[in-house]
Amino acid sequence: MTEKFVIGFENCPLIDTGAVVREVAASENKFPFGEIVNSWPFKWTFNMDEDDVVFGLGESVRGINKRGFTYESWCSDVPGQNEGTKSMYGAHNFLIVYGKKHVFGLFFDTASRISFDIGFTEHNILEVSTEDTGVEIYVIRDSESSGKNQLNNIVKEFRALIGTSYIPPMWAFGFQQSRWGYKTNEDVQTVVDSYRKAGIGLDSVCLDIDYMTDYKDFTVDEKKFPEFKNFTKKLSEEGIHLIPIIDAGVKLQEGYDVCDDGVKNNFFCKKADGKDFVAGVWPGRSYFPDFLNPDAREWFGSYYRRLLENGVEGFWNDMNEPAMFYSDESLEEAFEKIRNFEGENLDVQSFFEFKDVGQKISNSDEDYKRFYHNASVKTSDGSKKTFCIRHDKVHNIFGGNMTRASAEGMEKILPNKRTLLYSRASCIGAHRYGGIWTGDNCSQWAHLEQEIKMLPSLNMCGFLYSGADIGGFGQSPSVDLVLRWTAFGVFTPLMRNHSAWDSRVQECYSFGDTKGFKSIVDLRYALLPYIYSEFVKAAMKNEMYFKPLCFDFSDDERALDCDDEILLGNEILLAPIYKQNARGRYVYLPEDMTMITWENSTARAEEISAGDHYINVPLNSVVFFIRKNKAVPFAKPASCVKDINSADLKLIGGGSEYELYEDDGFTRDIKLDGRIRLIRK
Ligand code: GLC
Repeated sequence: MTEKFVIGFENCPLIDTGAVVREVAASENKFPFGEIVNSWPFKWTFNMDEDDVVFGLGESVRGINKRGFTYESWCSDVPGQNEGTKSMYGAHNFLIVYGKKHVFGLFFDTASRISFDIGFTEHNILEVSTEDTGVEIYVIRDSESSGKNQLNNIVKEFRALIGTSYIPPMWAFGFQQSRWGYKTNEDVQTVVDSYRKAGIGLDSVCLDIDYMTDYKDFTVDEKKFPEFKNFTKKLSEEGIHLIPIIDAGVKLQEGYDVCDDGVKNNFFCKKADGKDFVAGVWPGRSYFPDFLNPDAREWFGSYYRRLLENGVEGFWNDMNEPAMFYSDESLEEAFEKIRNFEGENLDVQSFFEFKDVGQKISNSDEDYKRFYHNASVKTSDGSKKTFCIRHDKVHNIFGGNMTRASAEGMEKILPNKRTLLYSRASCIGAHRYGGIWTGDNCSQWAHLEQEIKMLPSLNMCGFLYSGADIGGFGQSPSVDLVLRWTAFGVFTPLMRNHSAWDSRVQECYSFGDTKGFKSIVDLRYALLPYIYSEFVKAAMKNEMYFKPLCFDFSDDERALDCDDEILLGNEILLAPIYKQNARGRYVYLPEDMTMITWENSTARAEEISAGDHYINVPLNSVVFFIRKNKAVPFAKPASCVKDINSADLKLIGGGSEYELYEDDGFTRDIKLDGRIRLIRK
């Protein structure tokens, strides 16, 4: 059951965030939980019981239970985030309060900054507040008030409210290699050849900003990538897709048609004086398309044709929080400040101020108040109209609307073919148009652990196609970190190794002995028909691909505390290794299962009883569990998705059958009906 409460409508136009796809009439009832202390600015508080658990908030740090911290939805460029990081790249305002006395989900539909103090300031108080915008709150309760499946049902109902999650083409489930540092077609070819030579599976190579001419969107530097179309064709014959990056900022340069066209049509964000807003990103001074304006979205989306016509079938959209190094104004102010320090005797105070001048101009709140959008707003009579609104009030839906622009553009260009798309910034609603990767993490064990805990929360919010940079983006990894991370990555829908130009190379072939990597990536390809099938089923049924244990084992108190084990689909339990030098780990199993040890590209199965176990997990192996009376189909490992023989699958596990979803891997018209093949032992 979903009820909607509209708060703050008299004071401010309600931004149409595009998150919700189902009409729900505003309720006249009293808000059923806690107290709305203020409607303007909005503030709601709720007394939590000591045992209440709070789930949700999608892309955010810390545990699956979000209690004990203040999180803030404010799409941010946060390289090297840690457990003190309040805001990540996405704004995912959905949470579930789960306790003995009450179980309910809340979605705060707003485009602007919103804080979630979950028992941080006061241990038992949950407080949600916005700065100055209106908010529509959806309260979701399970109709079976004390059923076993309450958590799953609430998520399912929420996901039906926000619409079906994005489903990429099947090749996008193959392994992807990326590095900010591949500069030429030879660099890319070397990566492909090295993977093929080592016999390690690979489906895609990402192109980072260096493939462009002067970092200009939708260009390919002919000097570095001569005859690009022939190159993509040659690679596709080798089973490889190229995935170029597209950035939110458009280089300001006369004669560059994207820039000229955007200026001419007023498609870029403007300042209060009506002039186009300028800020610095990779190409230097740049304009920012007004992705909230449908015409600008259509216009930007149409440029993807340039690369699609060259044989590209997938993209990653970046820097779309939007990230900005500086604006024209903030740079001028910074130089002014620095000049004032010249010749001064810098003491502790002034030296710190001096030092901060450069730092503070990036992604600053002041800059986010310097430009405007033409956003769609809801009026009190229920209609929508276009309204000029300052960026900071709609900040959280900027990146999501870039995803929408790209997805809609590509659908127009390729109406019969799914394309791959993932973004860095996101908001709920964008999950219908693309996936996300979880941004600039580091080569740290803590970031592997963070990913394990983040993915189920992302699934609650609709983001199923996601994954972190395997091996870590910033800093340099040791081989064991990359092995363990790849072993977890086997199960994440987006499986991509990516790193920054100044870190140690971390392709699977770059550490000498490749045997372990080969075996681990082989498992991905062996499980790929299953992973694809579970993914599509989860998306189509509004279910979660990754779940916390307690979602399915709600009667089990132990399962509630287990947040370093997660369920995949309906068959698998994962207990990844995320600590350095660990030769194994303790695992809690809520029921009898089959333990699979994958070594040297073969699976060994043994029965294991419910309860606590210490399991050995040698570095080159992957261990996971198949649930009671369930079975998982394994294919023969292949070097890329198109070579997988899904006619030849072997079922492993205690169950005797599995319902495999199958399609051609690219058709846009996805339905479960008629596409399920029953596989029997
Ligand atoms: C951003 C992205 C990262 C990319 C880099 C260069 O930091 O998050 O993935 O490699 O930009 O484009």
